[in-house]
Amino acid sequence: MKYIIAPSILSADFGNLQRDIEMINESEADWFHVDIMDGVFVPNISFGFPVMAAVKKYAAKPLDVHLMIVEPEKYIQEFADAGADRITVHYEACTHLHRTIQLIKAAGCKAGVALNPHTPVTLLQDIIEDLDLVLIMSVNPGFGGQQFIHNTYKKIQDLKRLIEGKNEDLVIEVDGGVSLQNIANLVSAGATAFVAGNAIFATENPGETISKMKLSTTT
Ligand code: DX5
Ligand code: ZN
Repeated sequence: MKYIIAPSILSADFGNLQRDIEMINESEADWFHVDIMDGVFVPNISFGFPVMAAVKKYAAKPLDVHLMIVEPEKYIQEFADAGADRITVHYEACTHLHRTIQLIKAAGCKAGVALNPHTPVTLLQDIIEDLDLVLIMSVNPGFGGQQFIHNTYKKIQDLKRLIEGKNEDLVIEVDGGVSLQNIANLVSAGATAFVAGNAIFATENPGETISKMKLSTTT
């Protein structure tokens, strides 16, 4: 099984963004996690296309774009053009989720759906076969550095059951409060991709922390 480490750019030093991107390029990380927040779907605003273009310019690994915005269908093509490899939209932000997923695929990207902590995975049962990735939020979206919500383990297990015999290659991504303390348990529960912001960027040697995280997925 290939486990993915996706450092979240949200926790990078934006005054030294190129330096932090190069650190990730040289590390054992697999993807860049790019958090887009609109101040409407979530109570915070992160950054938009100009910053994403700067990330794309220097990033040597795929961009995993997490859209925490209302009406994401309006911007799918623009995010694809800006260099997204994976685009994840929130279940709670999409009235016509099936159509939005098809839009993402038509734009040439892998398609994901994110679930807020209160949204049960069973709501995905009629779309699960169309998805490349499900992102389970393990904090309420909007901010880095929050505390991990324990119920996430149960949700990962529920999702494992849901994909059985239907879509077993689905990437199960966990986002929020992921750290060296819980990553091995998340692997045991069935998660396959791990977003981490604070747990990487707030450490003395982020590259080394990424290596330790990667190691925790294999032992
Ligand atoms: C939260 C974002 C996360 C965030 C994770 O809304 O979706 O990607 O950057 O940050 P940490 O790992 O610090 O919880
Ligand atoms: Zn995220």
